Amino acid sequence: MLKSYFIDVKGILHDFPILSRKINGHRLVYLDNAATTQKPLQVIEAVNDFYLKHNANVHRSVHTLGEEATELYEGAREKVASFINAGSEEIVFTRGTTESINLVRFAWAEKYLEKDDVILLTMMEHHSNIVPWQLVARKKGAKLRYVGVDKEGRLKFDELERDIAGSRILAITHCSNVLGTVNDVKKACSLARKNGVLTVVDAAQSAPHIRVDVREIGCDFLAFSGHKMLAPNGIGVLYGRKEILQEMDPFHGGGDMIKEVFLDHATWNDVPYKFEAGTVNTGGAIGLAEAIRYIEKIGIENIEKHERAVTQYCLETLSKIEGLLIYGPQEAKGRVGVVSFNIKGAHPHDVATILDRNGIAIRSGHHCAQPLMNHYSVPAMCRASFYLYNTLEDVDRLYQGIKKVKEVFG
Ligand code: ALA
Repeated sequence: MLKSYFIDVKGILHDFPILSRKINGHRLVYLDNAATTQKPLQVIEAVNDFYLKHNANVHRSVHTLGEEATELYEGAREKVASFINAGSEEIVFTRGTTESINLVRFAWAEKYLEKDDVILLTMMEHHSNIVPWQLVARKKGAKLRYVGVDKEGRLKFDELERDIAGSRILAITHCSNVLGTVNDVKKACSLARKNGVLTVVDAAQSAPHIRVDVREIGCDFLAFSGHKMLAPNGIGVLYGRKEILQEMDPFHGGGDMIKEVFLDHATWNDVPYKFEAGTVNTGGAIGLAEAIRYIEKIGIENIEKHERAVTQYCLETLSKIEGLLIYGPQEAKGRVGVVSFNIKGAHPHDVATILDRNGIAIRSGHHCAQPLMNHYSVPAMCRASFYLYNTLEDVDRLYQGIKKVKEVFG
């Protein structure tokens, strides 16, 4: 076993051929998992197998391929449902987290939001959990309010407690894609429920890394993406409580989302089909189900513990570097494997470029979280983010790479 805990990384590396690539003469160290993860052979083969053997449109044709494709697609929905402890009729397949949140915006908020209603957000949201709310607020005359972030990079929960009462919607991230902070969404949703506030949880950075149970969280909606959890791009999930999904308007109009169509009106299919107009991403859903099988084989609790160990080691290692500032909680407890930092005197893009020359892939930029960048008075940050295949050696490589950056910038 490599020098890491809870997961036999050496034993799974052959599932990820891309990770044995050499980049600029060095073994690739992929630390951009919060942006997207690599895909194991099992997922690639499951998608391949669908197109090679079973491809047909779902829910339409009675021929054998049509039946097989439908069975695989609905089987994938069941797999996703059990992964987050939901009912399968509560799982809507989307293109990803962004589309899931926009679905709630169009199908719920456009219908129910009223003038002067308050949408409560947090300062650590990704743009995809800010901009859709700005758009609907502008249209309906609603207001936006933000829960602040404290010096440690944690939510100011007292502000949430203060502002929840007058709000209509709480849209909150489970884990920050910049700070790694894990928010107590269970507590937030419980407060919201007591105050009759609709809850939308962005689980894009949590579902791949820690146990997500929608019944335990008690949310109305929860969104996540396949590509951040070993699955292909272009497939995502919106969980919605069944009663809420039933009363909502459709999202897109078209085939399969209807019951009957007349010249002047139409009636809607049952949930979740009401929200899946047109030909769906069957291969993507099958890939996501296979990714969940892969995650379950390793165990989500093992993934969480493994990443926490790597993150703790990263925090300790990077904090030894003079002039390097780490954002967010300074210990791995209560955070996922995302470590954002800046190096005095070096622009994040220059840091990322020099690291790339050494085979290390990190993300630099505003991380689709400009309000949070403004909170820290910086235009950009460097970010290393881990997944189940990263090791302590990868952190050592990052450390060595940063040393080289420091040599360039003095
Ligand atoms: N949301 C992705 C990230 O944080 C793209 O990098």
